[in-house]
Amino acid sequence: MHISTYSSADRAARAAATRVLECLGANPALVLGLPTGLTPVPLYRALVRAHQAGRADFSLATTFNLDEFLGLGRGDAGSYRTFMEAHLFAHVNLAPRRAHVLDGRAKDWRAEVEAYDARIRRAGGLDLVILGIGRNGHLGFNEPGPTLAARTHRVTLRATTRRANAGLFDGDWRRVPTHALSMGIGTILGAREVLLLATGRSKARIVARALRGPITTRVPASLLQVHPNVSVCLDREGASAL
Ligand code: GLP
Repeated sequence: MHISTYSSADRAARAAATRVLECLGANPALVLGLPTGLTPVPLYRALVRAHQAGRADFSLATTFNLDEFLGLGRGDAGSYRTFMEAHLFAHVNLAPRRAHVLDGRAKDWRAEVEAYDARIRRAGGLDLVILGIGRNGHLGFNEPGPTLAARTHRVTLRATTRRANAGLFDGDWRRVPTHALSMGIGTILGAREVLLLATGRSKARIVARALRGPITTRVPASLLQVHPNVSVCLDREGASAL
């Protein structure tokens, strides 16, 4: 695991973006796993800037988002699909048919999760997955618990996670859906490269537990310790408990 600490959240995000651009340059048909949340916003901003400057061509790339709220999808305020359109998809030349986000409004969520895994398989798996981390150590929406799911599945969101996502729902955590669909830990760990971005004091404790503590399903991000190719980009605050 390669851990780098930068002087600001913006610098950490720009370093992560530089790695994404290197991978895209080396393999224009890159298959990327993508996170949502506040942490990756400056990373997406850097990718959009690079695209506008002619330094990033996404025309052959494929993306798979990590998760989506159950009941929400395209066009819904608060959906991760809407978040991705706003922060990345609308501003780069990614082919819409290759920008995959789970459809939380699918009539049959079981069929939706199976189809998602099949699409990831057909794409050859993830070359690079970019991750944020929840304050309880979740990756995507793989919440801490006695077990973890390997493949895309339905999850019940913890109250803490719903509160952390309230910003997408005018600050009202009771409007945050109670369930979500999420890529599984097996698929995330199956990515050929992992890039974890974590910034801010609120993440310091969980970053230390995930990177230096025991490997446990109670801290899903701790499983990254067994992955052979992980880079972690932190700001000073995020690294302050290491
Ligand atoms: C959500 C997402 C996660 C993300 C986490 C942290 O719960 N499902 O993928 O890592 O939020 O978000 P933030 O970056 O806003 O702290």
